[in-house]
Amino acid sequence: MMEFNQVVNKRQSCRKFSDKKVENEKLEIILQQASSAPSACNSQPWKFVVVNNETLVSKMPDVLQVGNINKFTSQVNTFIVICETKAVLMAGATCDSQYYAQMDIGIATAYLTLSAKNQGLDTCIMGAFKDAEVKQLLSIPEDVKIKLILAVGYAQDDTTRTKVRKSLEKTCSFNQW
Ligand SMILES: Cc1cc2nc3c(=O)[nH]c(=O)nc-3n(C[C@H](O)[C@H](O)[C@H](O)COP(=O)(O)O)c2cc1C
Repeated sequence: MMEFNQVVNKRQSCRKFSDKKVENEKLEIILQQASSAPSACNSQPWKFVVVNNETLVSKMPDVLQVGNINKFTSQVNTFIVICETKAVLMAGATCDSQYYAQMDIGIATAYLTLSAKNQGLDTCIMGAFKDAEVKQLLSIPEDVKIKLILAVGYAQDDTTRTKVRKSLEKTCSFNQW
């Protein structure tokens, strides 16, 4: 277990995984912690589908590679497919310009990545995948939205890269825009 600062600083997208299998006990903790994420009206509009069955895992790279993206997935032995389910919001708690479920999914995904890091695991969020083919492979109903797919595993090395980010001057301000 790490300090929160360390978890945040060390979380980075991993695209070089070792073949060490991710333990089910760790996955259960990660799923439990992600399930405690906040969501609009506590609606929890998500379903996390873990893919760690060898046969299915071997078929995942084909449905995840889009052009040159996500080629690294052939080294991954565990994926979490993050699906959006129907959000049930309280009457009056909605706002037309907002799409809360998508935010809820984003927050839950952040929890997944940080919780995994805290368990000594690394992750890569993937927003690019072949939607219909993933659904067919995993028998996910057509009306369910797959929002993201998370690669989870042990990194080949534990070097933390320097984060490349916009400056706080560009992205934050106090009191006025
Ligand atoms: C919504 C979303 C979709 C992403 N899709 C992909 C993807 O399909 N393939 C990939 O390799 N990385 C993907 N990433 C990872 C980003 O490239 C990465 O988070 C960003 O460059 C910052 O780097 P870091 O995660 O190492 O801090 C995605 C990240 C997010 C949040």
